Amino acid sequence: NNPLVSARRISQPLDSDFNSDEDLQRRYSRIRSRSEALARLLSAEELVVQSMPDASPAKWHLAHTTWFFETFLLLNHAPGYVEFDPQYAFLFNSYYEALGPRQPRPQRGLITRPSADEVFEYREHVDTHMRALLRMMPSSELRALVTLGFAHEEQHQELMLMDVLHLFSQSPLRPAYDVRWPRPSPGRQGRFRTLAPGLREQGANGDGFVFDNEAPRHPVWLQGFEISDRLVTNGEWLAFIRDGGYTRPGLWLADGWAEVQAQRWEAPFYWERRGTTWLQMTLAGRQPIELDAPVMHVSYFEAAAYAEWAGARLPTEAEWEVAAIAGVLEQQDDVGWQWTQSAYSAYPGFRASPGAVGEYNGKFMSSQMVLRGGASVTPAEHVRPTYRNFYRPQQRWMFSSVRLARDLR
Ligand code: AVJ
Ligand code: FE
Repeated sequence: NNPLVSARRISQPLDSDFNSDEDLQRRYSRIRSRSEALARLLSAEELVVQSMPDASPAKWHLAHTTWFFETFLLLNHAPGYVEFDPQYAFLFNSYYEALGPRQPRPQRGLITRPSADEVFEYREHVDTHMRALLRMMPSSELRALVTLGFAHEEQHQELMLMDVLHLFSQSPLRPAYDVRWPRPSPGRQGRFRTLAPGLREQGANGDGFVFDNEAPRHPVWLQGFEISDRLVTNGEWLAFIRDGGYTRPGLWLADGWAEVQAQRWEAPFYWERRGTTWLQMTLAGRQPIELDAPVMHVSYFEAAAYAEWAGARLPTEAEWEVAAIAGVLEQQDDVGWQWTQSAYSAYPGFRASPGAVGEYNGKFMSSQMVLRGGASVTPAEHVRPTYRNFYRPQQRWMFSSVRLARDLR
Protein backbone atom coordinates (compact mmCIF):
# COMPACT_ATOMS: atom_id res chain seq x y z
CA ASN A 1 0.00 0.00 0.00
CA ASN A 2 1.19 3.48 -0.81
CA PRO A 3 2.01 5.40 2.37
CA LEU A 4 0.94 8.64 0.73
CA VAL A 5 -2.62 7.45 0.45
CA SER A 6 -4.82 6.28 3.26
CA ALA A 7 -8.38 5.18 3.58
CA ARG A 8 -11.13 7.58 4.46
CA ARG A 9 -14.64 7.42 5.82
CA ILE A 10 -17.05 9.92 4.43
CA SER A 11 -19.80 9.42 6.97
CA GLN A 12 -17.69 10.64 9.88
CA PRO A 13 -16.20 14.07 10.32
CA LEU A 14 -12.53 13.74 11.14
CA ASP A 15 -11.23 15.52 14.15
CA SER A 16 -9.16 18.03 12.26
CA ASP A 17 -9.00 20.23 15.33
CA PHE A 18 -6.00 20.34 17.62
CA ASN A 19 -5.80 20.79 21.33
CA SER A 20 -2.30 22.05 22.02
CA ASP A 21 0.37 24.21 20.46
CA GLU A 22 2.58 21.16 20.31
CA ASP A 23 0.00 19.56 17.99
CA LEU A 24 0.03 22.62 15.78
CA GLN A 25 3.80 22.46 15.35
CA ARG A 26 3.84 18.74 14.63
CA ARG A 27 1.00 19.10 12.19
CA TYR A 28 2.81 21.92 10.43
CA SER A 29 5.88 19.74 9.87
CA ARG A 30 3.87 16.72 8.77
CA ILE A 31 1.80 18.57 6.20
CA ARG A 32 4.71 20.58 4.82
CA SER A 33 6.89 17.47 4.41
CA ARG A 34 4.13 15.60 2.60
CA SER A 35 4.18 18.18 -0.21
CA GLU A 36 7.91 17.67 -0.54
CA ALA A 37 7.53 13.89 -0.49
CA LEU A 38 5.04 14.15 -3.37
CA ALA A 39 7.41 16.36 -5.35
CA ARG A 40 10.45 14.17 -4.74
CA LEU A 41 9.12 11.57 -7.21
CA LEU A 42 9.48 14.15 -10.01
CA SER A 43 12.58 14.98 -12.05
CA ALA A 44 13.89 18.55 -12.36
CA GLU A 45 12.16 18.91 -15.75
CA GLU A 46 8.87 17.54 -14.45
CA LEU A 47 8.80 20.13 -11.67
CA VAL A 48 8.69 23.04 -14.11
CA VAL A 49 6.42 22.13 -17.03
CA GLN A 50 2.81 23.34 -17.23
CA SER A 51 0.73 21.04 -19.43
CA MET A 52 -2.40 23.22 -19.76
CA PRO A 53 -3.73 26.57 -18.44
CA ASP A 54 -5.77 24.90 -15.65
CA ALA A 55 -2.74 23.01 -14.34
CA SER A 56 0.31 24.37 -12.55
CA PRO A 57 3.89 23.13 -12.34
CA ALA A 58 4.72 21.20 -9.16
CA LYS A 59 7.45 23.75 -8.40
CA TRP A 60 4.82 26.48 -8.50
CA HIS A 61 2.61 24.57 -6.02
CA LEU A 62 5.58 24.17 -3.65
CA ALA A 63 6.33 27.88 -3.82
CA HIS A 64 2.73 29.13 -3.75
CA THR A 65 1.81 27.22 -0.58
CA THR A 66 4.94 28.68 1.03
CA TRP A 67 4.02 32.17 -0.15
CA PHE A 68 0.60 31.64 1.49
CA PHE A 69 2.17 31.10 4.94
CA GLU A 70 4.64 33.93 4.36
CA THR A 71 1.94 36.39 3.28
CA PHE A 72 -0.93 35.60 5.64
CA LEU A 73 1.08 34.54 8.71
CA LEU A 74 4.65 35.82 8.75
CA LEU A 75 4.29 39.25 7.12
CA ASN A 76 1.16 40.04 9.15
CA HIS A 77 1.98 38.38 12.46
CA ALA A 78 5.72 37.78 12.89
CA PRO A 79 7.31 41.02 14.12
CA GLY A 80 10.30 42.04 12.02
CA TYR A 81 9.90 39.25 9.41
CA VAL A 82 11.44 40.25 6.09
CA GLU A 83 10.26 38.69 2.80
CA PHE A 84 12.56 35.96 1.47
CA ASP A 85 12.46 37.58 -1.96
CA PRO A 86 10.27 40.59 -2.85
CA GLN A 87 9.75 39.23 -6.41
CA TYR A 88 8.02 36.07 -5.19
CA ALA A 89 4.74 37.87 -4.51
CA PHE A 90 4.36 38.47 -8.26
CA LEU A 91 5.38 34.92 -9.16
CA PHE A 92 3.44 32.97 -6.54
CA ASN A 93 0.29 34.99 -5.80
CA SER A 94 -2.42 32.83 -7.35
CA TYR A 95 -5.48 35.07 -7.60
CA TYR A 96 -5.59 37.59 -4.73
CA GLU A 97 -6.46 40.94 -6.32
CA ALA A 98 -5.99 42.72 -2.97
CA LEU A 99 -2.34 41.63 -2.99
CA GLY A 100 -1.39 43.09 -6.35
CA PRO A 101 -0.46 41.93 -9.84
CA ARG A 102 0.77 38.41 -10.58
CA GLN A 103 2.14 36.11 -13.25
CA PRO A 104 -0.78 35.12 -15.53
CA ARG A 105 -1.97 31.64 -14.63
CA PRO A 106 -1.50 30.11 -18.11
CA GLN A 107 2.17 31.19 -18.01
CA ARG A 108 3.22 29.60 -14.71
CA GLY A 109 5.29 27.10 -16.68
CA LEU A 110 7.58 29.90 -17.84
CA ILE A 111 8.87 30.45 -14.31
CA THR A 112 12.21 28.69 -14.83
CA ARG A 113 13.74 30.87 -12.10
CA PRO A 114 13.86 30.56 -9.13
CA SER A 115 15.23 27.04 -9.51
CA ALA A 116 13.70 24.13 -7.66
CA ASP A 117 16.65 24.25 -5.24
CA GLU A 118 15.86 27.89 -4.50
CA VAL A 119 12.20 27.04 -3.94
CA PHE A 120 13.23 24.36 -1.44
CA GLU A 121 15.42 26.98 0.30
CA TYR A 122 12.39 29.29 0.34
CA ARG A 123 10.36 26.53 2.00
CA GLU A 124 13.07 26.01 4.62
CA HIS A 125 13.29 29.72 5.36
CA VAL A 126 9.53 30.09 5.83
CA ASP A 127 9.38 26.85 7.85
CA THR A 128 12.03 28.13 10.26
CA HIS A 129 10.10 31.35 10.86
CA MET A 130 6.74 29.56 11.04
CA ARG A 131 8.09 27.19 13.70
CA ALA A 132 9.29 30.16 15.74
CA LEU A 133 5.88 31.80 15.37
CA LEU A 134 4.06 28.62 16.43
CA ARG A 135 6.26 28.28 19.53
CA MET A 136 4.98 31.65 20.80
CA MET A 137 1.50 30.58 22.01
CA PRO A 138 -0.40 31.77 18.94
CA SER A 139 -3.66 33.67 19.41
CA SER A 140 -6.86 32.03 18.25
CA GLU A 141 -6.97 34.33 15.21
CA LEU A 142 -3.49 33.18 14.28
CA ARG A 143 -4.31 29.52 14.92
CA ALA A 144 -7.29 29.83 12.59
CA LEU A 145 -5.05 31.24 9.85
CA VAL A 146 -2.44 28.49 10.33
CA THR A 147 -5.18 25.88 10.08
CA LEU A 148 -6.36 27.54 6.86
CA GLY A 149 -2.75 27.29 5.66
CA PHE A 150 -2.83 23.53 6.38
CA ALA A 151 -6.08 23.03 4.47
CA HIS A 152 -4.67 25.16 1.67
CA GLU A 153 -1.50 23.09 1.43
CA GLU A 154 -3.60 19.91 1.40
CA GLN A 155 -5.69 21.28 -1.48
CA HIS A 156 -2.50 21.93 -3.39
CA GLN A 157 -1.21 18.41 -2.67
CA GLU A 158 -4.25 17.09 -4.49
CA LEU A 159 -3.85 19.68 -7.27
CA MET A 160 -0.20 18.62 -7.67
CA LEU A 161 -1.29 15.02 -8.28
CA MET A 162 -4.04 16.10 -10.71
CA ASP A 163 -1.55 18.25 -12.58
CA VAL A 164 1.15 15.55 -12.67
CA LEU A 165 -1.36 13.05 -14.05
CA HIS A 166 -2.33 15.51 -16.77
CA LEU A 167 1.30 16.25 -17.57
CA PHE A 168 2.18 12.56 -17.79
CA SER A 169 -0.92 11.82 -19.88
CA GLN A 170 0.46 14.27 -22.45
CA SER A 171 3.84 12.56 -22.55
CA PRO A 172 4.24 10.07 -25.43
CA LEU A 173 5.82 7.65 -22.94
CA ARG A 174 2.81 7.78 -20.56
CA PRO A 175 5.16 7.45 -17.58
CA ALA A 176 4.06 6.26 -14.15
CA TYR A 177 4.25 8.86 -11.40
CA ASP A 178 4.57 6.00 -8.93
CA VAL A 179 4.40 2.35 -10.04
CA ARG A 180 3.23 1.53 -6.51
CA TRP A 181 0.24 3.85 -6.74
CA PRO A 182 -2.79 1.78 -5.67
CA ARG A 183 -4.73 0.18 -8.52
CA PRO A 184 -8.48 0.81 -8.40
CA SER A 185 -10.23 -1.79 -6.30
CA PRO A 186 -13.22 -3.59 -7.83
CA GLY A 187 -16.51 -3.47 -5.94
CA ARG A 188 -20.18 -4.26 -6.42
CA GLN A 189 -22.57 -1.94 -8.21
CA GLY A 190 -24.54 0.62 -6.25
CA ARG A 191 -27.90 0.09 -4.57
CA PHE A 192 -30.40 2.87 -4.12
CA ARG A 193 -31.16 3.79 -0.51
CA THR A 194 -34.33 5.69 0.37
CA LEU A 195 -34.41 8.81 2.51
CA ALA A 196 -37.71 10.15 3.81
CA PRO A 197 -38.85 13.70 3.16
CA GLY A 198 -38.34 16.23 5.90
CA LEU A 199 -36.82 19.41 7.23
CA ARG A 200 -33.05 18.86 7.54
CA GLU A 201 -30.00 20.99 8.08
CA GLN A 202 -27.03 21.62 5.85
CA GLY A 203 -23.66 23.16 6.60
CA ALA A 204 -20.99 23.11 9.27
CA ASN A 205 -22.02 23.35 12.91
CA GLY A 206 -18.88 25.03 14.23
CA ASP A 207 -16.64 22.36 15.71
CA GLY A 208 -13.36 21.79 13.92
CA PHE A 209 -11.90 23.64 10.95
CA VAL A 210 -14.11 24.30 7.95
CA PHE A 211 -13.78 26.65 5.00
CA ASP A 212 -15.95 29.75 5.16
CA ASN A 213 -18.13 28.46 2.28
CA GLU A 214 -19.37 25.51 4.42
CA ALA A 215 -21.29 27.85 6.75
CA PRO A 216 -23.68 29.05 8.04
CA ARG A 217 -25.57 25.88 8.87
CA HIS A 218 -29.15 26.34 7.76
CA PRO A 219 -32.40 24.42 7.32
CA VAL A 220 -33.29 22.79 4.01
CA TRP A 221 -36.45 21.01 2.96
CA LEU A 222 -35.81 17.71 1.19
CA GLN A 223 -38.40 15.79 -0.75
CA GLY A 224 -38.08 12.06 -0.31
CA PHE A 225 -35.33 10.71 -2.55
CA GLU A 226 -33.19 7.71 -3.37
CA ILE A 227 -29.41 7.86 -3.51
CA SER A 228 -26.97 5.19 -4.59
CA ASP A 229 -24.70 3.85 -1.87
CA ARG A 230 -21.84 3.44 -4.39
CA LEU A 231 -20.42 5.24 -7.38
CA VAL A 232 -21.09 4.53 -11.05
CA THR A 233 -18.51 2.02 -12.34
CA ASN A 234 -16.37 1.93 -15.47
CA GLY A 235 -18.39 -1.06 -16.66
CA GLU A 236 -21.64 0.86 -16.34
CA TRP A 237 -20.02 3.78 -18.15
CA LEU A 238 -18.91 1.45 -20.94
CA ALA A 239 -22.55 0.40 -21.40
CA PHE A 240 -23.45 4.10 -21.74
CA ILE A 241 -20.74 4.52 -24.40
CA ARG A 242 -21.86 1.40 -26.28
CA ASP A 243 -25.46 2.59 -26.18
CA GLY A 244 -24.36 5.73 -28.04
CA GLY A 245 -24.21 7.94 -24.96
CA TYR A 246 -21.75 10.35 -26.54
CA THR A 247 -23.69 10.55 -29.83
CA ARG A 248 -27.23 11.28 -28.63
CA PRO A 249 -27.87 15.00 -28.12
CA GLY A 250 -31.15 14.22 -26.36
CA LEU A 251 -29.23 13.04 -23.30
CA TRP A 252 -27.15 16.19 -22.96
CA LEU A 253 -27.47 19.69 -21.58
CA ALA A 254 -27.08 22.20 -24.43
CA ASP A 255 -23.69 23.46 -23.20
CA GLY A 256 -22.60 19.87 -22.66
CA TRP A 257 -23.53 18.80 -26.17
CA ALA A 258 -21.61 21.79 -27.56
CA GLU A 259 -18.59 20.63 -25.56
CA VAL A 260 -18.95 17.01 -26.80
CA GLN A 261 -18.78 18.26 -30.36
CA ALA A 262 -16.08 20.88 -29.89
CA GLN A 263 -13.79 18.57 -27.87
CA ARG A 264 -14.84 15.36 -29.67
CA TRP A 265 -15.50 13.66 -26.33
CA GLU A 266 -16.25 9.94 -26.70
CA ALA A 267 -15.16 8.60 -23.31
CA PRO A 268 -13.91 9.88 -19.93
CA PHE A 269 -10.71 11.90 -19.86
CA TYR A 270 -7.60 9.64 -19.83
CA TRP A 271 -9.39 6.73 -21.57
CA GLU A 272 -7.59 5.54 -24.71
CA ARG A 273 -9.16 3.14 -27.15
CA ARG A 274 -7.29 -0.13 -27.79
CA GLY A 275 -9.18 -2.10 -30.44
CA THR A 276 -12.49 -3.03 -28.88
CA THR A 277 -11.55 -2.10 -25.34
CA TRP A 278 -10.02 0.80 -23.43
CA LEU A 279 -6.93 1.67 -21.45
CA GLN A 280 -6.76 4.42 -18.86
CA MET A 281 -3.91 6.70 -17.88
CA THR A 282 -3.39 6.64 -14.10
CA LEU A 283 -0.75 7.76 -11.60
CA ALA A 284 0.64 4.21 -11.95
CA GLY A 285 0.93 4.63 -15.73
CA ARG A 286 -1.33 3.30 -18.48
CA GLN A 287 -3.53 0.46 -17.24
CA PRO A 288 -6.43 -1.68 -18.47
CA ILE A 289 -9.80 -0.35 -17.30
CA GLU A 290 -11.03 -1.99 -14.09
CA LEU A 291 -14.68 -2.50 -15.01
CA ASP A 292 -15.90 -2.78 -11.42
CA ALA A 293 -14.14 0.34 -10.12
CA PRO A 294 -15.68 3.83 -10.08
CA VAL A 295 -15.53 5.83 -13.29
CA MET A 296 -13.19 8.79 -12.90
CA HIS A 297 -12.32 12.04 -14.70
CA VAL A 298 -15.72 12.92 -16.10
CA SER A 299 -17.11 16.43 -16.47
CA TYR A 300 -20.37 17.63 -14.95
CA PHE A 301 -21.82 17.54 -18.45
CA GLU A 302 -20.93 13.86 -18.84
CA ALA A 303 -22.17 13.03 -15.34
CA ALA A 304 -25.52 14.71 -16.08
CA ALA A 305 -25.86 12.95 -19.46
CA TYR A 306 -25.08 9.59 -17.87
CA ALA A 307 -27.69 10.17 -15.16
CA GLU A 308 -30.27 11.05 -17.81
CA TRP A 309 -29.43 7.87 -19.73
CA ALA A 310 -29.70 5.82 -16.52
CA GLY A 311 -33.17 7.22 -15.75
CA ALA A 312 -31.82 9.01 -12.71
CA ARG A 313 -30.33 12.38 -11.79
CA LEU A 314 -27.41 13.76 -9.81
CA PRO A 315 -28.03 14.41 -6.10
CA THR A 316 -28.22 17.95 -4.77
CA GLU A 317 -25.46 18.84 -2.35
CA ALA A 318 -27.99 18.94 0.50
CA GLU A 319 -29.16 15.42 -0.34
CA TRP A 320 -25.56 14.24 -0.52
CA GLU A 321 -24.70 15.75 2.87
CA VAL A 322 -27.79 14.43 4.63
CA ALA A 323 -27.21 10.94 3.18
CA ALA A 324 -23.50 10.98 4.13
CA ILE A 325 -24.24 11.98 7.72
CA ALA A 326 -27.03 9.39 7.90
CA GLY A 327 -24.37 6.81 7.01
CA VAL A 328 -26.05 5.41 3.88
CA LEU A 329 -23.12 6.13 1.53
CA GLU A 330 -20.76 3.18 1.65
CA GLN A 331 -17.13 3.81 2.32
CA GLN A 332 -15.15 3.18 -0.86
CA ASP A 333 -11.37 3.24 -0.87
CA ASP A 334 -11.15 4.26 -4.45
CA VAL A 335 -13.48 7.18 -4.59
CA GLY A 336 -13.62 10.32 -6.61
CA TRP A 337 -15.29 13.62 -5.92
CA GLN A 338 -18.94 13.36 -6.79
CA TRP A 339 -20.70 15.87 -8.96
CA THR A 340 -23.90 17.30 -7.54
CA GLN A 341 -26.57 19.17 -9.46
CA SER A 342 -26.06 22.17 -7.13
CA ALA A 343 -24.50 25.35 -8.42
CA TYR A 344 -21.71 26.66 -6.18
CA SER A 345 -23.19 29.66 -4.44
CA ALA A 346 -23.43 31.26 -1.02
CA TYR A 347 -25.37 29.63 1.82
CA PRO A 348 -27.96 32.00 3.33
CA GLY A 349 -26.11 34.42 5.60
CA PHE A 350 -22.66 33.83 4.08
CA ARG A 351 -20.31 36.82 4.03
CA ALA A 352 -16.71 36.56 2.83
CA SER A 353 -14.16 37.80 5.40
CA PRO A 354 -12.81 41.29 4.80
CA GLY A 355 -9.34 41.58 3.26
CA ALA A 356 -7.36 39.41 0.88
CA VAL A 357 -8.13 36.13 2.67
CA GLY A 358 -11.82 36.73 1.90
CA GLU A 359 -10.99 36.07 -1.76
CA TYR A 360 -10.21 32.44 -0.92
CA ASN A 361 -13.62 30.91 -1.78
CA GLY A 362 -16.34 33.54 -2.03
CA LYS A 363 -15.40 35.20 -5.27
CA PHE A 364 -15.69 31.94 -7.21
CA MET A 365 -19.40 31.60 -6.54
CA SER A 366 -20.52 31.74 -10.17
CA SER A 367 -20.53 29.29 -13.09
CA GLN A 368 -19.20 26.34 -11.08
CA MET A 369 -20.85 23.20 -9.72
CA VAL A 370 -20.35 21.62 -6.30
CA LEU A 371 -18.64 18.25 -5.86
CA ARG A 372 -18.89 16.34 -2.59
CA GLY A 373 -16.98 13.57 -0.89
CA GLY A 374 -13.29 13.39 -1.61
CA ALA A 375 -10.97 11.42 -3.84
CA SER A 376 -8.21 8.84 -3.55
CA VAL A 377 -5.77 11.76 -4.00
CA THR A 378 -7.38 13.83 -1.23
CA PRO A 379 -5.52 13.75 2.09
CA ALA A 380 -7.75 11.76 4.47
CA GLU A 381 -7.84 14.45 7.16
CA HIS A 382 -9.05 16.92 4.53
CA VAL A 383 -12.33 15.06 3.96
CA ARG A 384 -15.58 15.89 5.79
CA PRO A 385 -19.30 15.65 5.01
CA THR A 386 -19.85 19.43 4.78
CA TYR A 387 -16.92 20.00 2.37
CA ARG A 388 -17.82 21.88 -0.82
CA ASN A 389 -15.42 21.38 -3.70
CA PHE A 390 -16.21 23.24 -6.92
CA TYR A 391 -15.20 23.15 -10.56
CA ARG A 392 -16.52 24.38 -13.87
CA PRO A 393 -18.92 21.96 -15.59
CA GLN A 394 -16.60 21.22 -18.52
CA GLN A 395 -13.50 20.47 -16.43
CA ARG A 396 -12.39 16.86 -16.07
CA TRP A 397 -8.80 16.63 -14.95
CA MET A 398 -10.01 16.35 -11.36
CA PHE A 399 -10.63 12.93 -9.81
CA SER A 400 -14.36 13.36 -10.42
CA SER A 401 -16.87 10.54 -10.37
CA VAL A 402 -20.63 10.02 -10.37
CA ARG A 403 -23.21 9.06 -7.76
CA LEU A 404 -26.82 8.76 -8.87
CA ALA A 405 -29.99 9.86 -7.12
CA ARG A 406 -33.68 9.51 -8.00
CA ASP A 407 -36.94 11.12 -7.04
CA LEU A 408 -39.27 8.93 -5.04
CA ARG A 409 -42.12 7.77 -7.21
C1 AVJ B 1 -11.46 24.33 -4.43
C2 AVJ B 1 -9.91 23.08 -5.74
C3 AVJ B 1 -11.28 24.76 -6.77
O1 AVJ B 1 -8.04 24.91 -7.07
O2 AVJ B 1 -8.57 26.98 -6.87
C4 AVJ B 1 -6.30 26.34 -3.87
C5 AVJ B 1 -8.56 25.15 -4.14
N1 AVJ B 1 -8.03 27.45 -3.24
N2 AVJ B 1 -5.88 27.52 -3.40
C6 AVJ B 1 -8.63 25.83 -6.50
C7 AVJ B 1 -7.65 26.29 -3.77
C8 AVJ B 1 -6.94 28.20 -3.02
C9 AVJ B 1 -9.50 25.50 -5.29
N3 AVJ B 1 -10.52 24.42 -5.56
FE1 FE C 1 -3.82 28.28 -3.51
